[in-house]
Amino acid sequence: MQQQTGGGIAAIPTAPEAIRNADTHYPYRPDSYFYYLSGFPEPEAVVVLTAGSGEGDPRQVLFCRDKNPEREIWDGFRYGPDAAREIFGFDEAYSIAELRGKLADWTCDRPALYAPLGLYPLWDDAITATLNEVRNRVRTGVAAPETVVDVRAPLAAMRLYKDAQELALLRRAAEISSGAHRRAMRLTRPGWYEYEVEAELMHEFLRFGAQAVAYPSIVASGPNACVLHYRDNNRQAQDGELLLIDAGCEFHGYASDITRTFPVSGKFAGARKAVYELVLSAQVACIDAVKPGRAFHDYHQVAERVLARGLIDLGLCEGSLDAVLETGTYKQFYMHRAGHWLGLDVHDVGLYRINGESRTLEPGMVLTVEPGCYIRPGDNVPEEFWNIGVRIEDDVLVTAAGNENLTAATPKTIDDVEAACRL
Ligand code: GLY
Ligand code: MN
Ligand code: MN
Repeated sequence: MQQQTGGGIAAIPTAPEAIRNADTHYPYRPDSYFYYLSGFPEPEAVVVLTAGSGEGDPRQVLFCRDKNPEREIWDGFRYGPDAAREIFGFDEAYSIAELRGKLADWTCDRPALYAPLGLYPLWDDAITATLNEVRNRVRTGVAAPETVVDVRAPLAAMRLYKDAQELALLRRAAEISSGAHRRAMRLTRPGWYEYEVEAELMHEFLRFGAQAVAYPSIVASGPNACVLHYRDNNRQAQDGELLLIDAGCEFHGYASDITRTFPVSGKFAGARKAVYELVLSAQVACIDAVKPGRAFHDYHQVAERVLARGLIDLGLCEGSLDAVLETGTYKQFYMHRAGHWLGLDVHDVGLYRINGESRTLEPGMVLTVEPGCYIRPGDNVPEEFWNIGVRIEDDVLVTAAGNENLTAATPKTIDDVEAACRL
């Protein structure tokens, strides 16, 4: 980062607090870029980095809220700059009230200013104010940066490769979420409402120290499984149906993202079993295609191929495999990508293509593998397949030797799922 700025200055704010209604706030979640650089959990904070060989360079500085005994009685502990510098390993730390002056001072004579642009309107205003303040000093002999760069691109490139500490957090998130899916399989019974299952997931997330869900849990029974981002979670699951759960916790900022689909009765049968086996075979083949040197998009193509072949065999698509792939008729039943990067954000940052070419997988990258099949009622669909939705999703680390499935402890073979439902 410091080298990439070539003598520049970077200023990265955390997320503002968000009001839910009246005087109630949403649970606070720091900005992912800020958190990546700092690990600092409080709102009203900014990281400033300077590079180059000027006075005080290079520096890593945190601006944060002061200690405030009165507010701490009402809202809880605040680190304050002194403790924050010590604990979070910054060279310097100051009150957030000092940001404006110091940022302007340090921005003088820098070739470039790096900051997120267009992310938080108030921060855009602060950056503009800083630049104008430096420009106003031009007659004192200083120059304002000629270049203003969105810092998210270089940070995203760094975030794509997970280091050992990040992997430890991703593993723990995966482990907790895996336990939550096993709990859901064990407890769910015909007649349960989807929200009752959601409550069991939440129970498991919180009791093992996850701070939040990484995204709203999808608990989709029967026909709801065909709604990709189903969120209502208020239907009663019936005997004979499948239950699709796409749920993962966030552990110290890092996401997990697991989908499993299992029979409400605990036993797969008929068309549901056939569709499940097809998606499982696609998912296993996809995971095999995740290894260093392979293109990111390869495993999506594997998913398309396996699913198209299976849809033909089930009588849901007509024609040769090449024709079904070429015309895309399989997209009636499989209309999303096979996965995405995973990290601080569930759909994590990082480019998927570079100059139009699919990115090559490298060790340290983490991605999801999540093919699915969603069959809505339709004139061209045999009735036995109506309203079946299946997705299977794991979180996979690219390693030097191939890959490691971080969510392998979540049952997914027919036997393992049925056994987990019987427990
Ligand atoms: N849970 C969001 C996703 O699977 O991409
Ligand atoms: Mn998911
Ligand atoms: Mn996903």
